[in-house]
Amino acid sequence: MVKESNRWMEASDVIPMFPSLVWKIQFEASLRDALARGILAALADMRRGLPPLEAGRGWQSGQAVHEREDFRDLVSCVRRGVTSILRFLRFLRIGDAFEITACWATVLAKGAAHKIHSHPNNFLSGVYYVCTPPGADAINFHDPRRQTAVIRPPVVELTADNTDQVVVKVRNGTLLMFPSFLEHSVDANLSEEERISVSFNAMFSSFTQQLSKPLW
Ligand SMILES: [Fe+2]
Repeated sequence: MVKESNRWMEASDVIPMFPSLVWKIQFEASLRDALARGILAALADMRRGLPPLEAGRGWQSGQAVHEREDFRDLVSCVRRGVTSILRFLRFLRIGDAFEITACWATVLAKGAAHKIHSHPNNFLSGVYYVCTPPGADAINFHDPRRQTAVIRPPVVELTADNTDQVVVKVRNGTLLMFPSFLEHSVDANLSEEERISVSFNAMFSSFTQQLSKPLW
């Protein structure tokens, strides 16, 4: 007997499985401001002598800013975040054996975008947002299930269940973390101000020694 309903399919009739998780943490104002002071001073130091960024252009630091003393507080927050995710995913036994393999700052001037990409050879990646002016306060995540792009019927309403892209709004002090395989992109900065973020990758330290052994 089919139950009476205005909608044939209710949300309760759907079984979500194999979700793509993005973790979003908003730091409190005092921590956010303290981190921004340190990071912006460090970036000013790194960019000293460089010409101002032209519209449409971006700048990236080297990939080892996590080794700098002035990024120590951010690195500490990142390590706590990664540890929390490994605990959330019930990977706690190896949760204390990961390392940040790269960490770099990205500055996007007005009109600059970041094309779709992922971060291979790592387990988790993330971004900490330092300056996200209006019009430069989002990141796009793309459906990792490539098969879904083969047949794409037109939709009458875009929903979380039929979209191939999720736009996540961020603010100053937002820490986003996600699986490194999850493709993402950033639309052109619509603001007059620079969009400033710090990205990182994390990987299991003992991967070759312990995790890469065959499971069969
Ligand atoms: Fe990225």
